[in-house]
Amino acid sequence: MDILHSILFAAHMLGLAAIIGSFFVQLRRKSDFVLGPTLYGAIVQVATGVGLVGVGQATGDDIDMIKVTVKLGIAVIVLVAAILAVVTQRKGGKVQPWFHAAGGLAVVNVLVAVFW
Ligand code: HEM
Repeated sequence: MDILHSILFAAHMLGLAAIIGSFFVQLRRKSDFVLGPTLYGAIVQVATGVGLVGVGQATGDDIDMIKVTVKLGIAVIVLVAAILAVVTQRKGGKVQPWFHAAGGLAVVNVLVAVFW
């Protein structure tokens, strides 16, 4: 279980880096967003987050369920915003608001994870 926890946690940190790294790099962009890291990072965050909770429960860790439920809610909004950014880009629409919503809310989730 320890190794599974470490793999999930490492992937959780890499998913975070993918979303927030590409968010900061493209912060001033108005168009031509590279959205792969945002979309795949958002999928990784939901999957590894749920996995971490599962491993934590299986090993009897004291998990704050209210905190992880709030994180899950925010992460699902990040994922929806990332999907809408991709769909909007394909249709030639304005991607910026969706991109900023996904990146900004991922930053909020870091703050929830660290300060709650
Ligand atoms: C954009 C989405 C997310 C971001 C940016 C994020 C960020 C973080 C960060 C920075 C940590 C390390 C801080 C710490 O351990 O106190 C962490 C840990 C954790 N996250 Fe997330 N998270 C996200 C989504 C989720 C989701 C959806 C869940 C669960 C449904 C989740 C569950 C957890 C758990 C259980 C840990 C503790 C891991 C451990 O130390 O064993 N996270 N997250």
